[in-house]
Amino acid sequence: MELFDLTGKRALVTGSSRGIGRAIAEALLEAGAHVVVNGVNDRLFQTAQELMTSTGGVVIPIQADLSKREETKHLFNESVNKLGGLDILVVNHGIQRSHPAEAFPIEDWDTVLEVDLSSLFMLDQMGGQHMLRHGGGKIINIASLISVIGGMTVPAYAAAKGGVVQLTKAFSNEWAGRGVNVNAIVPGFIHTDLTEDLVNDPGEGANLLARIPVGRWGVPDDLKGVAVFLASAASNYVTGAVIPVDGGFLVR
Ligand SMILES: NC(=O)c1ccc[n+]([C@@H]2O[C@H](COP(=O)([O-])OP(=O)(O)OC[C@H]3O[C@@H](n4cnc5c(N)ncnc54)[C@H](O)[C@@H]3O)[C@@H](O)[C@H]2O)c1
Repeated sequence: MELFDLTGKRALVTGSSRGIGRAIAEALLEAGAHVVVNGVNDRLFQTAQELMTSTGGVVIPIQADLSKREETKHLFNESVNKLGGLDILVVNHGIQRSHPAEAFPIEDWDTVLEVDLSSLFMLDQMGGQHMLRHGGGKIINIASLISVIGGMTVPAYAAAKGGVVQLTKAFSNEWAGRGVNVNAIVPGFIHTDLTEDLVNDPGEGANLLARIPVGRWGVPDDLKGVAVFLASAASNYVTGAVIPVDGGFLVR
């Protein structure tokens, strides 16, 4: 268990007020880390309270809208200040906009690229700068199946999440020999607020389910093990990797 022990490690998990980010924050807390949780709305504070109660760990909520560059910088700097450093960075927040490709508004393109890709570039870069100065660390980016396949009606999300995978490799190449591991997780179809409509869609939802080899939608807790692995010493020789947690979807 020592390999997976995160006692006293300091972590920031973006977009952790609900869904996948919340489950990852909980997993890091259960492994002993101190965790900054983040979200855009007040639900964040309720989540922080619940995580404190369920894990007994150190949970610090910091509200920030990561579509705004000043708030992205503020979140990072406040996290480092409040934690006294940073060993683990999980960039998980994300949004989606859906329109037929021929009618996709440029404003939605800008919003999705800013939230899903540019803020991740900024956070990874600030995380890398800090970790290079302080003896290393672990950066985990949350990509998507749509990093690999193109999807339907989500061209901005596909471009942004494809970029997340490429940035993971680019940062890893430059920092691997200097103690900073950068990896990406590709969640499959996970039942969260983001996918609620799809899960309940008798047409497309049912079709997707039929294509998932393990025969069920994922749940946020399915991401916990990989997140702890990538945050811990167990993954010290793993970097630049893109790891699907998708019930076998991509290889079918
Ligand atoms: N659910 C899935 O099936 C699935 C599949 C592949 C990838 N993903 C990715 O996993 C990540 C989490 O997805 P989820 O399903 O848990 O989504 P979710 O909508 O349930 O949660 C998203 C989180 O991001 C935060 N967020 C959104 N916009 C933000 C902003 N501007 N500033 C700060 N925080 C913001 C929200 O507050 C929330 O905490 C996303 O990057 C998503 O693209 C999800």
